[in-house]
Amino acid sequence: MAYGLLKGKRGIISGALNEQSIAWKIAELAHAEGASFVLTNAPVAMRMGEINKLATATGAEVVPADATNDADLEKLFTEGQRILGGRMDFVLHSIGMSPNVRKGRKYDDLNYEWYKQTLDISAMSFHRMLQAAYKQHALADGASVLALSYIAAQRVFPDYGDMADAKALLESIARGWGYRLGKLKNVRVNTVSQSPTMTTAGAGIKGFDGFFGFADEMSPLGNAPAEDCANYCISLFSDLTKYVTMQNLFHDGGFSTTGVTPEVMAHFMKGE
Ligand SMILES: NC(=O)c1ccc[n+]([C@@H]2O[C@H](COP(=O)([O-])OP(=O)(O)OC[C@H]3O[C@@H](n4cnc5c(N)ncnc54)[C@H](O)[C@@H]3O)[C@@H](O)[C@H]2O)c1
Repeated sequence: MAYGLLKGKRGIISGALNEQSIAWKIAELAHAEGASFVLTNAPVAMRMGEINKLATATGAEVVPADATNDADLEKLFTEGQRILGGRMDFVLHSIGMSPNVRKGRKYDDLNYEWYKQTLDISAMSFHRMLQAAYKQHALADGASVLALSYIAAQRVFPDYGDMADAKALLESIARGWGYRLGKLKNVRVNTVSQSPTMTTAGAGIKGFDGFFGFADEMSPLGNAPAEDCANYCISLFSDLTKYVTMQNLFHDGGFSTTGVTPEVMAHFMKGE
């Protein structure tokens, strides 16, 4: 059911790679809720062509931008404003990639060039995006900006590797910009810390199935699906959450505050 929560709002949605992507679900829902937006992704991700299906279905234009390239990001906001006819009411950062995780380099054996790339792609890109928007005055008064995070920013999940450091940085950047843009233009900046989700980025983590199953059994509501993450993000883009800012908001079925569950205990009970 649609509520018209984003009627008349303009935005930028990054990170929709394929139908599994969390950003894909957010784009579909933003469209259903009345928003107009541009889609963006790294030029290399365009090769698969999937994003064009989403663009057609949502009436969006695609503006390629490598989120580690300032010139691309500058163009993204100039083009975005031109295409949509005004400043942005919402921006989604849904970008993450670690060459170390992808190539199986553990936390005690990192390749530092790749480590820099992990931090740049997955965290600094959020700063770059907001700086590009700020310099062009591309955000509307009261706009809402979101980035997707994971609880490995607060707690150790050994196979999440250097992505944990990237998420910690990402969440800090949300606070840094949230303060400044809040003062300046009542703009909100938050991160949504999502449950493990079966996507291309998610499946890149070693032992993801085990990870996914454990989190599911540790969450009273079970893992939060991507569709529900989209619902939550839409509420945060809407005018119903005007005073929520500089927060890391868990969307995780209760995982982050659960100590243990009988389902997890059962794996360790021998013959009782
Ligand atoms: N899947 C999970 O379990 C999970 C859980 C919590 C948070 N997240 C976060 O959600 C976000 C979206 O991931 P997803 O799970 O939907 O996977 P996904 O693989 O569908 O999305 C990741 C996106 O990042 C884009 N990207 C990578 N490098 C880029 C660059 N240089 N410039 C621009 N875009 C680039 C990819 O093309 C892709 O679209 C990420 O920040 C991820 O860390 C995912």
